[in-house]
This record gives sequence, structure tokens and C-alpha cells, in this order.
Amino acid sequence: MSEVVHDSRPSRIAIAGATGRVGSALARLLATDPVDVVALTRRPDEARLPSNVTIAAVRFDEPDTLQDALRGADRLFLSQGSSPEQVANEIALIDSAVAAGVRHIVKLSALGPASRILPFAWHMEIEAHLSRQPVASTILRPSAYVDMLVRRAAGQVAKGSWAGAAGDGRVNFIDTRDIAKVARVALLEDVQPTSQRAYHLTGPRSWTMTQISEEFSRLLGHSVVYCNRSPEDQKAALTAAGLTPFLVDLMLGLEQVLRESVLGETTSTVEELTGEAPRSLPDWIAENIALFRA
Ligand SMILES: NC(=O)c1ccc[n+]([C@@H]2O[C@H](COP(=O)([O-])OP(=O)(O)OC[C@H]3O[C@@H](n4cnc5c(N)ncnc54)[C@H](OP(=O)(O)O)[C@@H]3O)[C@@H](O)[C@H]2O)c1
Repeated sequence: MSEVVHDSRPSRIAIAGATGRVGSALARLLATDPVDVVALTRRPDEARLPSNVTIAAVRFDEPDTLQDALRGADRLFLSQGSSPEQVANEIALIDSAVAAGVRHIVKLSALGPASRILPFAWHMEIEAHLSRQPVASTILRPSAYVDMLVRRAAGQVAKGSWAGAAGDGRVNFIDTRDIAKVARVALLEDVQPTSQRAYHLTGPRSWTMTQISEEFSRLLGHSVVYCNRSPEDQKAALTAAGLTPFLVDLMLGLEQVLRESVLGETTSTVEELTGEAPRSLPDWIAENIALFRA
């Protein structure tokens, strides 16, 4: 783990989203640093976090709970899962943090261009709001999380094929643990009060779904192929699988982004910031291969 320049004052870091994929990995990392960590959650009884992490219950329909949870914090990591409330909730957290005297907000956003597609459009709204606040900010814009392959492919590849509407598009998947490592560096760094930055985070290279199938074949020891569907057929398949209309739209937007190679670029930012190369897709599949055997 890279050495980080610490501020001279002891720090209290709030994590909104500490039970989530990046937030939980970040909480585990920060729990070994000389800082106080407070995890904001709607589900305090279910939070499984290191014992030295303080848990603060929040309710988004009771803004006072956000203020109470953020009292004394000087840095905030913000990462909420996708939902129709995400924009309102994250803006409420930003406003409460500014009111509570937080000096630096690190927001998890998403790689990509200005877009109508959700959740990218939501992140643009939240980023724009944050950019106007009198607080230092760092935006983390990661490409697609590699663990999305569990939802997209587990249960299918064991039978020899998996399907989607990503065509020949390329995507540079990133491991959420690498995003958490960057978030740690960003949070521990001392920044100027007016600092506003964005980091574009990817894995080591991009892949087509066919190339990913070849990795599955190699690691599973049997042939796995990717079957491309039209967007209409993908919509019908997702609906038949029981997804809500909200999730179907979200997934179709993502398929479009993958098909058009919007998340295909490669950056060196993870390695530059953490001192370690990002984890590779084959290594992640090998580590999680049991999920794809069943
Ligand atoms: N998946 C990807 O490939 C990808 C790629 C780039 C960027 N992102 C972005 O990463 C962020 C995190 O996404 P994720 O799917 O991985 O989420 P997640 O980490 O599973 O969720 C983070 C936390 O959000 C809180 N949360 C979820 N729904 C909420 C709601 N309706 N209201 C209030 N809090 C809620 C939950 O905390 P509590 O239940 O503890 O309150 C949850 O632990 C999203 O903004 C997403 O756009 C994702």
C-alpha cells in the first residue's frame, strides 16, 4: 500500500455507502490507518464493518440524522447505489457535509461522456452540484466494475454460453478493491480548500465479450461463447427474468454503453496514485471461478 501524506490534524472520515462494494473495501482499508472512520448507513443492524469503525444510522427523510452523523467529520466519501433517489440523497449528503464543516468530499461517479443514459446522467447532476459548493472535491470516475460479470454471466457460462447486447464493444473492467485503494489515497491526501479534481480509473486493458468468453473457456476448461442479442431481445430477456422496469432500463443503457465501447479506454491513474498496477480481469475471474462453475 502506498505511503500517503497525512494532514497534521487527526482526521475523521465519513463514508456514505460503507456497506456497499467500494465503501466496504474502503472502510476495511481506512480501519488500519491513524484516522477515525464513521460509516453512515440506513441499516445499522446489518452493517458488517471493522470494530473500530463507528456506525451512524441515517434516514434520508430526516435530514437532521445526516447532520448528526457528519458532525466532526472533515472528509466525506460519497457512494450511493443506483436508485431513483440517488440524486436527491447524494445532494442532501453534500449539503449536510458542507453545513457540518467537512473540508473535502470524494465522490464516486462514473467514467464516460455527458450522457442521457442513467446512472451517468445522475452523476453529472450530482457532480455539477458538488462543483458549486465551497468545499474541496475529488471525483472518482471508474469504468465498469468487474464484479458485474457475476450478474451478467454466472449461472450461464457453466452451460457453455452467456448472452447480452454488448456486441463487439470493448470495456475495461475495474476491480472495486482498486477503486477503494484510490479513494483511500484521495481521502488521506492533504488538499487545498479550493481544490477540484477528477480521476479516471480503469483496469489494465479493455476486453470484448468474446475475449472474456475465451478467458472463461481457458479457466473453466470447456468452451464458453458469447451470444449477442438485439437490444429488443435483451429487453425481453431481462423482463422475462423478473427485473423491474427501472432495472431493465438501467441494464439496457449499460448494454448500449458497452456496445459503443464508451468504457473502453485505458488510464494509468490507479497505478500512479496507489503505486500498484490495477488487478486484471483474468486474475479476478480466477479468484472467483467457483461462482461460474455452478
Ligand atoms: N456497477 C458499476 O459497474 C459501476 C461503475 C461505475 C460507477 N458506479 C457507481 O458506483 C456507485 C455505487 O454503486 P453500487 O451498485 O456498487 O452500489 P453499492 O456499493 O452496492 O451501494 C452503496 C450503498 O448505497 C446505499 N444505498 C443503496 N440504495 C440506496 C437508496 N435508495 N437510498 C439510500 N442509500 C442507498 C447502501 O447503503 P446502506 O444500505 O448501508 O444505507 C449501499 O451500501 C453508484 O453510484 C454507481 O453509479 C458503478
